[in-house]
Amino acid sequence: MAIPEEIINEIKYRNDIESVMAPYVALKRRGKNLVGLCPFHNEKTPSFTVYPENGSFYCFGCGVGGDVFSFVRQIENLDYIDAVKLLAERSGITLPQDGYDDSMQKLKNTIFEINRETARFYHSYLMSPEGKWALDYLIGRGLSIATIKHFGLGAAPDGWDNLIKHLKSKGYGIPDMIQANVVGKSQRGTYYDRFRKRVMFPIINIRGKVIGFSGRAMPGEDKAGGKYVNTSDTPVYKKSENLFAMNYAKNHCDERVILVEGNMDVISLHQAGFPNTVAALGTSFTEEQAKLLSRYTKEIVLIMDSDAAGQKAVRRAGEILQNTGLQIRVVVLPDGKDPDEYIKKHGAARFKALLQGAVSEIEYKLLTAVEGIDTNSDDGKLQYLSRATEIIAESSDVMTRDLYIGRLSDKYGVSRAALETKVSDIRKRKIKQREKREFEEITRPKFDRTDVNPEKRLYPAGAVAEETIIAILMQHPDFYKTAIERLSPDDMLTSLNRRIYKALCECMESGRSPDLTYFGEMLTSPEMGYLASLCNSEKGDKNALIVLKDSIKVILDEGIHKKSGDTKTMSVDDWAENLQKIIELKQKGK
Ligand code: UTP
Ligand code: MN
Repeated sequence: MAIPEEIINEIKYRNDIESVMAPYVALKRRGKNLVGLCPFHNEKTPSFTVYPENGSFYCFGCGVGGDVFSFVRQIENLDYIDAVKLLAERSGITLPQDGYDDSMQKLKNTIFEINRETARFYHSYLMSPEGKWALDYLIGRGLSIATIKHFGLGAAPDGWDNLIKHLKSKGYGIPDMIQANVVGKSQRGTYYDRFRKRVMFPIINIRGKVIGFSGRAMPGEDKAGGKYVNTSDTPVYKKSENLFAMNYAKNHCDERVILVEGNMDVISLHQAGFPNTVAALGTSFTEEQAKLLSRYTKEIVLIMDSDAAGQKAVRRAGEILQNTGLQIRVVVLPDGKDPDEYIKKHGAARFKALLQGAVSEIEYKLLTAVEGIDTNSDDGKLQYLSRATEIIAESSDVMTRDLYIGRLSDKYGVSRAALETKVSDIRKRKIKQREKREFEEITRPKFDRTDVNPEKRLYPAGAVAEETIIAILMQHPDFYKTAIERLSPDDMLTSLNRRIYKALCECMESGRSPDLTYFGEMLTSPEMGYLASLCNSEKGDKNALIVLKDSIKVILDEGIHKKSGDTKTMSVDDWAENLQKIIELKQKGK
């Protein structure tokens, strides 16, 4: 029996890999991933890695890997179907005997309804006499009633179950409230409103639906739960993919979007006549958010606080935006104020002037690099010029480099030629460093994959190219057309990769994006580990399209040059003999 894909996905969604693993592995956060001591082999330093981003895991020590189903399958020693059943039970999903079930879509609709009802509840509470404490607070911060209504702001009453009672009276069940993340479950098994005594900001997606909430504590009352409590990711909400107020900003951002840090900054700026303002939702700016913006605008003006955190945020956003083709300019707010405070103090006209004076990213870096250096002394001048040339060398545009070299030369009385030589030396050094890194990347000893794919010995270069192609397509399905136009599954040299590539093609042809779960039934556990390592490899990080095309060429070339028989149709004995021949040939060639 095949379990419908929808159900598989729903089970996967409800069984977050971290919590499923919790009883078996102690995991620690490392960057965006988690690591721990591998439960499948003995080790002293952790090489077992979990990637919450795509719900997969991989052990660099023993090569075990896969998705949440693969984990349960191996740790509990089950076959695939039983692993699926176990996780279904764990999350209270009954597997249908037959037929298609659209419960995920239903769940999403219910969550949207609950969110809308919750937003209404908070808003009418804010406007009622009981909510006076919150309305006073908002008005005290300078918001008009019109603005409060425009953003649908609200307030969560104090108490543990006001919302629960309200939603129950509207006919919603506790499990759905929990899925919407407006209700939580305590360790003792009791249920409680997640937002209590907070001013509430509904988060609305570009289609106008309430997808989540951000709740601010009253001043001096932020001890329990922090200043802001936000909705965690739910089936309808991924904070890394949304921006606060994008639903309004999208109609005003042909020219530029203003990106600020806080929700209050957004609301304040909208009210002051800058409706093209958005904020990242309590995260640092992500690639998905950059992509969303690039669909609507040409330029982003980053307004960050002038503190260290703000500077870090500018650098990070700059890196991310580099690949989107969006222009980026930076406004540094004087005296560390946030935009909300600034506009209240100095008014909209001065804020506008500040926007007009926004500097390019490189200019911003040149400005901040001077910090702590006394450029009146010769030593200081040289120190600054050395930092500044490093910054200029980062730009890949020759005219940009020329422009800033000119400015430095004028300002510090150093010859253009000297600065040009310096910048070009730095660029050469950087290119060499990059090449060295890439070389080390390729030659670093990895977990030996010949056990999963023995044919790799026959086609050392080709098999690596195949792995690269699979890794890239799993991470960038949009390159599928480029691949299939040049490389058919039959061109793949090794049978394992041919099988994977074929399934990948079928998946793409049917209009879906492949993930590990798609291969759940088809691959053995070791094969799954192999694919998990590819999915999380860095092969597709840089210049993926070029690397993809090059790898295809490698395969096609090696395919032509394979003189000795076709391994696809070979018997095992012939194959072994063939392998021996090739090894001998190689040794002779040395
Ligand atoms: P700020 O602390 O700058 O808050 O955090 P703010 O928006 O200026 O709020 P006010 O003016 O003090 O009322 C900026 C953003 O970081 C996220 C929120 O999205 C906030 O808007 N944040 C901050 C959290 O998610 N959790 C926190 O505990 C604090
Ligand atoms: Mn603020």
